[in-house]
Amino acid sequence: MAYRYQAIKIGGPFEKVLVDRPVPKLGEVLIRLHAIGLNPIDWKQLSIGIAVESWPATFGCEGAGTVEDVGPGVQGFKKGDEVFSRLDPQIPESAAFQELAIIGATSVTHKPKSLSFEEAASLTVGYRTAASAIYHALEIPLPFLKQGRTEGFTPKSILVLGGSSSVGAAAIQLLRIALPNAIILTTSSPQHHEHLKSLGANKAFDYHSPDVVQQIKAATPNGAGVEALIDPVASVLINSALLGTLTGPKSFAEVITGRTVQNIPADVKHILVVGRNVMSCPGGENLSMALGELLESGRYNVPLPVTVVGEGLEAIEGGLATLKSGVSGTKLVVRL
Ligand SMILES: NC(=O)c1ccc[n+]([C@@H]2O[C@H](COP(=O)([O-])OP(=O)(O)OC[C@H]3O[C@@H](n4cnc5c(N)ncnc54)[C@H](OP(=O)(O)O)[C@@H]3O)[C@@H](O)[C@H]2O)c1
Repeated sequence: MAYRYQAIKIGGPFEKVLVDRPVPKLGEVLIRLHAIGLNPIDWKQLSIGIAVESWPATFGCEGAGTVEDVGPGVQGFKKGDEVFSRLDPQIPESAAFQELAIIGATSVTHKPKSLSFEEAASLTVGYRTAASAIYHALEIPLPFLKQGRTEGFTPKSILVLGGSSSVGAAAIQLLRIALPNAIILTTSSPQHHEHLKSLGANKAFDYHSPDVVQQIKAATPNGAGVEALIDPVASVLINSALLGTLTGPKSFAEVITGRTVQNIPADVKHILVVGRNVMSCPGGENLSMALGELLESGRYNVPLPVTVVGEGLEAIEGGLATLKSGVSGTKLVVRL
């Protein structure tokens, strides 16, 4: 038996219930979670009911822990391994807000010894969504991805709005690997600029500045603008003038946040980003394994400092309230 933390109805409250220990089927891994990463979709599911089919409902998209059991056909993982994984709130047994979660082995990554469980629990959603924006939406090849596409779009300049978000910070690092010589620009509040440059951005801009569009363009070759833009934080929705930073193919990858930009000029190539879409791309099944290799080799680091909001499943509710009220340059995690 193990505890699950489920929301009774839209808006909560949560209740802790004992459920049977699930048995992994073909290709599945059972993980005893030691840390759970919190994501904006969790509070949106709780408060708005996004993608919730019935209540009570169990949420949570990522976590880290120890392998408890593996199903038939699983290779590369065994009982006792320290791992982290993308988890799936669409399936109660696979959601993160519980002590034991079951998931397909292709979502699971070995945890490097150098990372804490809390750090590892913060990694997969940002990484996968950033990879989807870069590789699926913008068709920029990811050179580290086994059996991945090697041909595609190679912009000389790209703008990541919201670099201090989990997805944005992951995107900066992946872009620096994918496009070693490109000009990578980003926006955030000023206190994060140095960190975002350490992740690979050439320059960072304060999105509160009234002339941020002019500042960004001035940092591009001949002041022409950037060839592509990734927006994980609905920044263009707030300031549509940011589309004026685009030149050339004018590729705009907008991560779905619940609201999407309307009335986009016809010459802008607008692509909506959903994290899971990258899994259907060539090599997508190797994305989790690649993350482990990138971390071990030091080419990819924990993108944002982690804030542990509390211990035990009961800490999730308060953590979600904090996340809903807004965080800056950090990833919230619950320790179990
Ligand atoms: N569709 C999908 O598959 C998918 C997957 C993952 C996430 N998402 C969505 O993507 C969004 C981002 O998620 P996340 O976890 O990365 O968010 P997050 O880390 O919670 O985002 C917080 C950050 O957003 C920045 N920010 C807020 N407004 C901004 C603006 N106008 N310009 C620039 N930066 C701004 C803040 O920057 P400062 O503090 O520096 O001001 C803060 O650091 C969420 O809406 C989430 O639901 C979608």
